[in-house]
Amino acid sequence: MKKICIIGGCGHVGIPLGLAFASKGYFLSLLDINKKAVDSINSGNLPFVEDDAEELLQSHIGKNLIATTDENIIMEQDVVVFVTGTPVDEHLTPKISTVVSVIKNYAPRLKANQLVILRSTIFPGTTEIIDNTFEQQFGKNRPYLAFCPERILQGKGIEEIFALPQIVSAINKESEDMAAELFSNIAPKIIRLAPKEAELAKLMTNSWRYLEFAIANQFYMLVESQGLDFYRIFNAMKDDYPRAKYFAKPGLAAGPCLFKDTMQLSHFYNNYFTLGSDGMLVNEGLPNFLVEQLEKKLGTLKGKKIALLGMTFKADNDDVRESLSFKLKKLLEFKIANVAIHDPYLKTASLNEILAGADGVMLGTPHREYKDVKPAVPSVDCWGFWNTEE
Ligand SMILES: NC(=O)c1ccc[n+]([C@@H]2O[C@H](COP(=O)([O-])OP(=O)(O)OC[C@H]3O[C@@H](n4cnc5c(N)ncnc54)[C@H](O)[C@@H]3O)[C@@H](O)[C@H]2O)c1
Repeated sequence: MKKICIIGGCGHVGIPLGLAFASKGYFLSLLDINKKAVDSINSGNLPFVEDDAEELLQSHIGKNLIATTDENIIMEQDVVVFVTGTPVDEHLTPKISTVVSVIKNYAPRLKANQLVILRSTIFPGTTEIIDNTFEQQFGKNRPYLAFCPERILQGKGIEEIFALPQIVSAINKESEDMAAELFSNIAPKIIRLAPKEAELAKLMTNSWRYLEFAIANQFYMLVESQGLDFYRIFNAMKDDYPRAKYFAKPGLAAGPCLFKDTMQLSHFYNNYFTLGSDGMLVNEGLPNFLVEQLEKKLGTLKGKKIALLGMTFKADNDDVRESLSFKLKKLLEFKIANVAIHDPYLKTASLNEILAGADGVMLGTPHREYKDVKPAVPSVDCWGFWNTEE
Protein backbone atom coordinates (compact mmCIF):
# COMPACT_ATOMS: atom_id res chain seq x y z
CA MET A 1 0.00 0.00 0.00
CA LYS A 2 1.44 3.35 -1.03
CA LYS A 3 1.96 6.05 1.57
CA ILE A 4 1.01 9.59 0.67
CA CYS A 5 1.69 12.69 2.71
CA ILE A 6 -0.15 15.91 1.89
CA ILE A 7 1.56 19.06 3.13
CA GLY A 8 -1.13 21.67 3.80
CA GLY A 9 -3.28 18.56 4.10
CA CYS A 10 -5.89 20.03 6.45
CA GLY A 11 -6.93 22.77 4.04
CA HIS A 12 -9.68 23.03 1.44
CA VAL A 13 -7.73 21.15 -1.23
CA GLY A 14 -5.81 18.81 1.05
CA ILE A 15 -8.80 17.20 2.75
CA PRO A 16 -10.81 16.19 -0.35
CA LEU A 17 -7.65 14.92 -2.03
CA GLY A 18 -6.60 12.98 1.07
CA LEU A 19 -10.05 11.45 1.43
CA ALA A 20 -10.17 10.52 -2.25
CA PHE A 21 -6.88 8.61 -2.03
CA ALA A 22 -7.79 7.11 1.36
CA SER A 23 -11.01 5.77 -0.16
CA LYS A 24 -8.86 3.93 -2.72
CA GLY A 25 -6.81 2.21 -0.03
CA TYR A 26 -3.74 4.47 0.19
CA PHE A 27 -2.32 5.40 3.60
CA LEU A 28 -2.68 9.12 4.03
CA SER A 29 -0.90 11.54 6.37
CA LEU A 30 -2.29 15.07 6.31
CA LEU A 31 0.59 17.24 7.53
CA ASP A 32 -0.36 20.75 8.58
CA ILE A 33 0.85 23.54 10.86
CA ASN A 34 -2.73 24.29 11.92
CA LYS A 35 -2.97 22.25 15.13
CA LYS A 36 -6.65 23.02 15.62
CA ALA A 37 -7.49 21.62 12.16
CA VAL A 38 -5.23 18.59 12.79
CA ASP A 39 -7.01 17.82 16.09
CA SER A 40 -10.41 18.33 14.51
CA ILE A 41 -9.66 15.88 11.71
CA ASN A 42 -8.21 13.29 14.07
CA SER A 43 -11.42 13.46 16.10
CA GLY A 44 -13.42 12.79 12.92
CA ASN A 45 -14.71 16.34 12.43
CA LEU A 46 -14.10 18.49 9.39
CA PRO A 47 -12.64 21.93 10.19
CA PHE A 48 -14.93 23.48 7.55
CA VAL A 49 -17.94 22.67 5.39
CA GLU A 50 -17.24 20.20 2.59
CA ASP A 51 -20.12 18.22 1.08
CA ASP A 52 -19.95 14.41 1.42
CA ALA A 53 -16.62 14.54 3.26
CA GLU A 54 -17.63 13.92 6.88
CA GLU A 55 -18.78 10.35 6.30
CA LEU A 56 -15.63 9.50 4.35
CA LEU A 57 -13.48 11.06 7.05
CA GLN A 58 -15.15 9.02 9.76
CA SER A 59 -14.70 5.78 7.88
CA HIS A 60 -10.95 6.33 7.29
CA ILE A 61 -9.63 8.32 10.24
CA GLY A 62 -7.33 6.32 12.48
CA LYS A 63 -7.32 3.49 9.90
CA ASN A 64 -5.55 4.60 6.75
CA LEU A 65 -5.78 8.35 7.39
CA ILE A 66 -4.21 10.55 10.03
CA ALA A 67 -3.60 14.27 10.46
CA THR A 68 -0.33 15.39 12.02
CA THR A 69 1.99 18.30 12.71
CA ASP A 70 5.03 15.99 12.77
CA GLU A 71 7.15 16.72 9.72
CA ASN A 72 9.35 13.65 10.26
CA ILE A 73 6.50 11.66 8.80
CA ILE A 74 7.63 12.90 5.36
CA MET A 75 10.61 10.54 5.40
CA GLU A 76 8.38 7.45 5.43
CA GLN A 77 6.35 8.41 2.35
CA ASP A 78 6.24 7.23 -1.25
CA VAL A 79 4.47 10.37 -2.42
CA VAL A 80 4.61 13.90 -0.97
CA VAL A 81 2.03 16.42 -2.19
CA PHE A 82 2.32 20.17 -1.53
CA VAL A 83 -0.96 22.14 -1.36
CA THR A 84 -0.21 25.18 0.76
CA GLY A 85 -1.63 28.57 -0.22
CA THR A 86 -0.27 30.69 -3.07
CA PRO A 87 -1.31 34.29 -2.37
CA VAL A 88 -0.50 37.51 -4.19
CA ASP A 89 1.23 40.39 -2.44
CA GLU A 90 0.33 44.07 -2.00
CA HIS A 91 1.38 44.72 -5.62
CA LEU A 92 -0.95 41.90 -6.77
CA THR A 93 2.07 39.85 -7.84
CA PRO A 94 2.46 36.20 -6.80
CA LYS A 95 4.38 35.47 -3.62
CA ILE A 96 6.50 32.82 -5.30
CA SER A 97 8.99 32.88 -2.44
CA THR A 98 6.25 31.63 -0.07
CA VAL A 99 5.71 28.48 -2.15
CA VAL A 100 9.40 27.92 -2.69
CA SER A 101 10.31 28.45 0.96
CA VAL A 102 7.67 25.98 2.19
CA ILE A 103 9.15 23.32 -0.12
CA LYS A 104 12.73 24.26 0.81
CA ASN A 105 11.87 23.98 4.50
CA TYR A 106 10.64 20.43 4.08
CA ALA A 107 13.26 19.44 1.51
CA PRO A 108 15.79 18.06 4.07
CA ARG A 109 13.22 15.38 4.87
CA LEU A 110 12.60 14.43 1.25
CA LYS A 111 14.38 11.44 -0.27
CA ALA A 112 15.37 10.14 -3.66
CA ASN A 113 12.71 7.94 -5.25
CA GLN A 114 9.87 9.80 -3.58
CA LEU A 115 7.41 11.41 -5.94
CA VAL A 116 6.86 15.08 -5.06
CA ILE A 117 3.66 16.55 -6.47
CA LEU A 118 2.98 20.27 -6.54
CA ARG A 119 -0.79 20.80 -6.37
CA SER A 120 -1.18 24.45 -5.38
CA THR A 121 -2.06 26.91 -8.13
CA ILE A 122 1.39 28.19 -9.01
CA PHE A 123 2.85 30.94 -11.14
CA PRO A 124 4.13 29.69 -14.52
CA GLY A 125 7.74 28.65 -14.12
CA THR A 126 7.48 27.65 -10.44
CA THR A 127 7.84 23.92 -11.18
CA GLU A 128 11.09 24.73 -12.98
CA ILE A 129 12.30 26.75 -9.97
CA ILE A 130 11.56 23.82 -7.64
CA ASP A 131 13.27 21.47 -10.10
CA ASN A 132 16.35 23.65 -9.99
CA THR A 133 16.25 23.75 -6.18
CA PHE A 134 16.08 19.95 -6.06
CA GLU A 135 18.93 19.66 -8.54
CA GLN A 136 21.14 21.89 -6.40
CA GLN A 137 20.19 20.19 -3.17
CA PHE A 138 20.11 16.53 -4.20
CA GLY A 139 22.13 16.30 -7.41
CA LYS A 140 21.34 13.13 -9.32
CA ASN A 141 19.92 11.39 -6.28
CA ARG A 142 16.79 13.48 -6.20
CA PRO A 143 13.03 13.06 -5.81
CA TYR A 144 10.74 12.80 -8.83
CA LEU A 145 8.77 15.98 -9.43
CA ALA A 146 5.34 16.64 -10.96
CA PHE A 147 2.81 19.46 -11.07
CA CYS A 148 -0.81 18.28 -11.05
CA PRO A 149 -3.18 21.19 -10.48
CA GLU A 150 -6.36 20.93 -8.43
CA ARG A 151 -9.51 22.11 -10.24
CA ILE A 152 -12.32 21.21 -7.82
CA LEU A 153 -15.09 23.59 -6.83
CA GLN A 154 -14.71 24.46 -3.17
CA GLY A 155 -17.31 22.63 -1.09
CA LYS A 156 -17.96 20.09 -3.87
CA GLY A 157 -14.49 18.55 -3.82
CA ILE A 158 -15.47 14.97 -3.11
CA GLU A 159 -17.98 14.84 -5.93
CA GLU A 160 -15.71 16.59 -8.40
CA ILE A 161 -12.39 14.96 -7.65
CA PHE A 162 -13.68 11.62 -8.95
CA ALA A 163 -15.34 13.24 -11.97
CA LEU A 164 -12.84 15.76 -13.33
CA PRO A 165 -10.03 14.92 -15.73
CA GLN A 166 -6.63 15.36 -14.06
CA ILE A 167 -3.98 17.47 -15.75
CA VAL A 168 -0.58 15.89 -15.15
CA SER A 169 2.78 17.47 -15.91
CA ALA A 170 6.29 16.73 -14.74
CA ILE A 171 9.93 17.54 -15.20
CA ASN A 172 10.70 14.16 -16.84
CA LYS A 173 8.93 11.15 -18.27
CA GLU A 174 9.40 8.93 -15.19
CA SER A 175 7.87 11.54 -12.89
CA GLU A 176 5.01 12.13 -15.33
CA ASP A 177 4.24 8.40 -15.60
CA MET A 178 4.31 7.98 -11.83
CA ALA A 179 1.93 10.91 -11.30
CA ALA A 180 -0.35 9.73 -14.11
CA GLU A 181 -0.49 6.25 -12.64
CA LEU A 182 -1.30 7.59 -9.18
CA PHE A 183 -4.07 9.93 -10.33
CA SER A 184 -5.61 7.35 -12.64
CA ASN A 185 -6.83 5.73 -9.42
CA ILE A 186 -9.11 8.65 -8.66
CA ALA A 187 -9.57 10.59 -11.92
CA PRO A 188 -11.56 9.31 -14.92
CA LYS A 189 -9.07 10.73 -17.41
CA ILE A 190 -5.46 11.93 -17.43
CA ILE A 191 -4.42 14.85 -19.61
CA ARG A 192 -0.69 15.31 -20.05
CA LEU A 193 0.93 18.72 -20.50
CA ALA A 194 4.36 20.23 -19.97
CA PRO A 195 4.71 22.00 -16.57
CA LYS A 196 4.44 25.55 -17.89
CA GLU A 197 1.41 24.57 -19.99
CA ALA A 198 -0.24 22.99 -16.96
CA GLU A 199 0.54 26.02 -14.78
CA LEU A 200 -1.04 28.27 -17.42
CA ALA A 201 -4.01 25.95 -17.93
CA LYS A 202 -4.94 26.28 -14.26
CA LEU A 203 -4.53 30.06 -14.16
CA MET A 204 -6.45 30.48 -17.41
CA THR A 205 -9.27 28.27 -16.11
CA ASN A 206 -9.71 30.47 -13.06
CA SER A 207 -9.30 33.74 -14.97
CA TRP A 208 -11.90 32.64 -17.50
CA ARG A 209 -14.36 31.89 -14.69
CA TYR A 210 -13.60 35.25 -13.08
CA LEU A 211 -14.29 36.98 -16.40
CA GLU A 212 -17.59 35.12 -16.81
CA PHE A 213 -18.70 36.76 -13.58
CA ALA A 214 -17.23 40.09 -14.65
CA ILE A 215 -19.29 40.30 -17.85
CA ALA A 216 -22.44 39.32 -15.94
CA ASN A 217 -21.66 41.95 -13.29
CA GLN A 218 -20.91 44.60 -15.90
CA PHE A 219 -24.22 43.91 -17.65
CA TYR A 220 -26.03 44.01 -14.30
CA MET A 221 -24.62 47.46 -13.54
CA LEU A 222 -25.17 48.67 -17.11
CA VAL A 223 -28.86 47.72 -17.03
CA GLU A 224 -29.70 48.63 -13.46
CA SER A 225 -28.02 52.03 -13.77
CA GLN A 226 -30.71 52.79 -16.39
CA GLY A 227 -33.45 52.05 -13.87
CA LEU A 228 -34.30 48.79 -15.64
CA ASP A 229 -34.71 45.32 -14.15
CA PHE A 230 -31.64 43.28 -15.13
CA TYR A 231 -33.26 39.90 -14.51
CA ARG A 232 -36.16 40.56 -16.91
CA ILE A 233 -33.59 40.95 -19.68
CA PHE A 234 -31.30 38.17 -18.42
CA ASN A 235 -34.14 35.65 -18.25
CA ALA A 236 -35.34 36.64 -21.71
CA MET A 237 -31.82 36.29 -23.15
CA LYS A 238 -31.41 32.80 -21.75
CA ASP A 239 -34.89 31.50 -22.44
CA ASP A 240 -34.46 28.50 -24.79
CA TYR A 241 -31.42 30.15 -26.35
CA PRO A 242 -28.65 27.54 -26.37
CA ARG A 243 -25.69 29.90 -26.76
CA ALA A 244 -26.64 31.79 -23.59
CA LYS A 245 -27.14 28.59 -21.58
CA TYR A 246 -23.96 29.01 -19.55
CA PHE A 247 -24.18 32.77 -19.18
CA ALA A 248 -23.26 33.32 -15.53
CA LYS A 249 -25.48 35.19 -13.12
CA PRO A 250 -24.19 38.38 -11.55
CA GLY A 251 -22.90 38.11 -7.99
CA LEU A 252 -20.04 38.98 -5.70
CA ALA A 253 -17.06 37.23 -7.33
CA ALA A 254 -14.84 36.67 -4.34
CA GLY A 255 -12.97 33.98 -2.45
CA PRO A 256 -9.36 32.92 -2.21
CA CYS A 257 -8.77 31.81 -5.82
CA LEU A 258 -10.33 33.66 -8.77
CA PHE A 259 -9.10 37.17 -7.98
CA LYS A 260 -5.54 36.19 -7.10
CA ASP A 261 -5.18 33.74 -9.99
CA THR A 262 -6.35 36.38 -12.48
CA MET A 263 -3.76 38.70 -10.98
CA GLN A 264 -1.08 35.98 -11.25
CA LEU A 265 -1.88 35.63 -14.94
CA SER A 266 -1.81 39.38 -15.38
CA HIS A 267 1.64 39.51 -13.81
CA PHE A 268 2.80 36.66 -16.06
CA TYR A 269 1.87 38.79 -19.09
CA ASN A 270 3.61 41.93 -17.75
CA ASN A 271 0.26 43.44 -16.72
CA TYR A 272 -1.01 43.38 -20.33
CA PHE A 273 -3.80 40.95 -19.51
CA THR A 274 -6.12 43.93 -19.77
CA LEU A 275 -9.33 41.88 -19.84
CA GLY A 276 -8.27 40.34 -16.52
CA SER A 277 -7.47 43.72 -14.99
CA ASP A 278 -10.75 45.19 -16.23
CA GLY A 279 -12.64 42.17 -14.95
CA MET A 280 -11.06 42.72 -11.55
CA LEU A 281 -12.17 46.37 -11.53
CA VAL A 282 -15.71 45.34 -12.47
CA ASN A 283 -15.96 42.57 -9.88
CA GLU A 284 -14.34 44.65 -7.15
CA GLY A 285 -16.52 47.64 -8.12
CA LEU A 286 -19.81 45.75 -7.80
CA PRO A 287 -20.09 46.28 -4.00
CA ASN A 288 -19.78 50.06 -4.54
CA PHE A 289 -22.58 49.92 -7.12
CA LEU A 290 -24.81 47.86 -4.81
CA VAL A 291 -24.35 50.31 -1.96
CA GLU A 292 -25.27 53.16 -4.31
CA GLN A 293 -28.37 51.23 -5.41
CA LEU A 294 -29.53 50.87 -1.82
CA GLU A 295 -28.71 54.50 -1.11
CA LYS A 296 -30.88 55.60 -4.04
CA LYS A 297 -33.77 53.46 -2.83
CA LEU A 298 -33.55 54.83 0.71
CA GLY A 299 -32.67 58.43 -0.13
CA THR A 300 -29.78 58.28 2.29
CA LEU A 301 -27.95 55.58 4.21
CA LYS A 302 -26.96 57.86 7.06
CA GLY A 303 -28.38 56.54 10.31
CA LYS A 304 -30.33 53.78 8.52
CA LYS A 305 -30.33 50.25 9.88
CA ILE A 306 -29.18 47.92 7.12
CA ALA A 307 -29.48 44.17 7.42
CA LEU A 308 -26.58 42.59 5.53
CA LEU A 309 -27.40 38.93 4.91
CA GLY A 310 -24.58 36.50 4.17
CA MET A 311 -20.92 37.09 4.94
CA THR A 312 -19.17 34.01 3.52
CA PHE A 313 -17.77 34.23 0.01
CA LYS A 314 -20.10 31.62 -1.43
CA ALA A 315 -23.54 30.26 -0.71
CA ASP A 316 -24.07 27.37 1.70
CA ASN A 317 -20.40 27.37 2.66
CA ASP A 318 -18.63 28.67 5.78
CA ASP A 319 -15.54 30.14 4.11
CA VAL A 320 -15.12 33.88 4.68
CA ARG A 321 -11.76 34.19 2.92
CA GLU A 322 -11.67 37.27 0.69
CA SER A 323 -15.46 37.62 0.93
CA LEU A 324 -16.77 40.81 -0.65
CA SER A 325 -19.55 40.98 1.95
CA PHE A 326 -16.98 42.54 4.28
CA LYS A 327 -16.28 45.18 1.65
CA LEU A 328 -20.03 45.82 1.44
CA LYS A 329 -20.14 46.27 5.20
CA LYS A 330 -17.24 48.70 5.10
CA LEU A 331 -18.80 50.74 2.30
CA LEU A 332 -22.17 50.89 4.07
CA GLU A 333 -20.49 52.02 7.27
CA PHE A 334 -18.61 54.66 5.34
CA LYS A 335 -22.06 56.03 4.46
CA ILE A 336 -22.76 56.10 8.23
CA ALA A 337 -25.31 53.29 8.05
CA ASN A 338 -25.82 51.02 11.06
CA VAL A 339 -25.03 47.62 9.65
CA ALA A 340 -26.32 44.45 11.29
CA ILE A 341 -24.79 41.34 9.76
CA HIS A 342 -26.25 37.86 9.61
CA ASP A 343 -24.78 34.59 8.46
CA PRO A 344 -25.91 31.07 9.36
CA TYR A 345 -22.23 30.01 9.52
CA LEU A 346 -21.09 32.80 11.86
CA LYS A 347 -22.03 33.70 15.41
CA THR A 348 -24.57 36.44 14.77
CA ALA A 349 -28.00 37.33 16.15
CA SER A 350 -30.92 35.42 14.63
CA LEU A 351 -32.22 36.30 11.17
CA ASN A 352 -35.49 37.62 12.65
CA GLU A 353 -33.61 39.84 15.08
CA ILE A 354 -31.39 41.22 12.31
CA LEU A 355 -34.35 41.89 10.02
CA ALA A 356 -36.52 43.47 12.77
CA GLY A 357 -36.60 47.22 12.36
CA ALA A 358 -34.26 47.22 9.35
CA ASP A 359 -34.70 50.13 6.95
CA GLY A 360 -33.04 48.25 4.11
CA VAL A 361 -31.72 44.78 3.26
CA MET A 362 -28.58 43.92 1.31
CA LEU A 363 -28.10 40.31 0.20
CA GLY A 364 -24.40 39.51 0.50
CA THR A 365 -24.52 35.74 -0.02
CA PRO A 366 -27.52 33.75 -1.27
CA HIS A 367 -27.51 31.04 1.40
CA ARG A 368 -30.46 28.68 1.11
CA GLU A 369 -31.70 29.93 4.53
CA TYR A 370 -32.54 33.24 2.85
CA LYS A 371 -34.64 31.89 0.01
CA ASP A 372 -37.93 32.60 1.73
CA VAL A 373 -36.98 36.01 3.06
CA LYS A 374 -39.39 38.56 1.62
CA PRO A 375 -37.96 41.92 2.60
CA ALA A 376 -40.73 44.32 3.55
CA VAL A 377 -38.32 47.23 3.12
CA PRO A 378 -36.15 48.33 0.14
CA SER A 379 -33.59 45.70 -0.71
CA VAL A 380 -30.73 44.98 -3.11
CA ASP A 381 -30.16 41.46 -4.42
CA CYS A 382 -27.74 41.32 -7.35
CA TRP A 383 -27.92 37.50 -7.34
CA GLY A 384 -31.53 37.42 -8.54
CA PHE A 385 -32.16 35.12 -5.58
CA TRP A 386 -35.49 36.69 -4.74
CA ASN A 387 -36.39 37.17 -8.38
CA THR A 388 -39.91 35.82 -8.65
CA GLU A 389 -39.80 35.17 -12.41
CA GLU A 390 -37.41 32.23 -12.04
N1 LIG B 1 -9.92 26.17 -2.28
C1 LIG B 1 -10.13 25.61 -3.45
O1 LIG B 1 -11.24 25.19 -3.80
C2 LIG B 1 -8.98 25.46 -4.44
C3 LIG B 1 -9.23 24.80 -5.64
C4 LIG B 1 -8.19 24.59 -6.52
C5 LIG B 1 -6.91 25.04 -6.20
N2 LIG B 1 -6.69 25.71 -5.02
C6 LIG B 1 -5.32 26.12 -4.72
O2 LIG B 1 -4.81 25.22 -3.74
C7 LIG B 1 -3.89 25.88 -2.87
C8 LIG B 1 -4.35 25.72 -1.43
O3 LIG B 1 -5.61 26.33 -1.29
P1 LIG B 1 -6.60 25.97 -0.10
O4 LIG B 1 -7.89 26.64 -0.40
O5 LIG B 1 -6.58 24.51 0.19
O6 LIG B 1 -5.89 26.73 1.09
P2 LIG B 1 -6.15 26.48 2.66
O7 LIG B 1 -5.69 27.70 3.35
O8 LIG B 1 -7.53 26.00 2.86
O9 LIG B 1 -5.17 25.27 2.97
C9 LIG B 1 -3.78 25.42 3.06
C10 LIG B 1 -3.33 24.65 4.27
O10 LIG B 1 -1.90 24.74 4.31
C11 LIG B 1 -1.52 24.83 5.67
N3 LIG B 1 -0.15 25.31 5.70
C12 LIG B 1 0.30 26.57 5.48
N4 LIG B 1 1.64 26.61 5.59
C13 LIG B 1 2.03 25.35 5.87
C14 LIG B 1 3.29 24.75 6.12
N5 LIG B 1 4.41 25.44 6.08
N6 LIG B 1 3.34 23.42 6.39
C15 LIG B 1 2.19 22.69 6.44
N7 LIG B 1 0.98 23.20 6.23
C16 LIG B 1 0.90 24.52 5.95
C17 LIG B 1 -2.56 25.72 6.29
O11 LIG B 1 -2.60 25.59 7.69
C18 LIG B 1 -3.83 25.23 5.59
O12 LIG B 1 -4.47 24.21 6.33
C19 LIG B 1 -3.83 27.32 -3.38
O13 LIG B 1 -2.79 27.43 -4.29
C20 LIG B 1 -5.17 27.48 -4.08
O14 LIG B 1 -5.11 28.51 -5.05
C21 LIG B 1 -7.70 25.90 -4.13
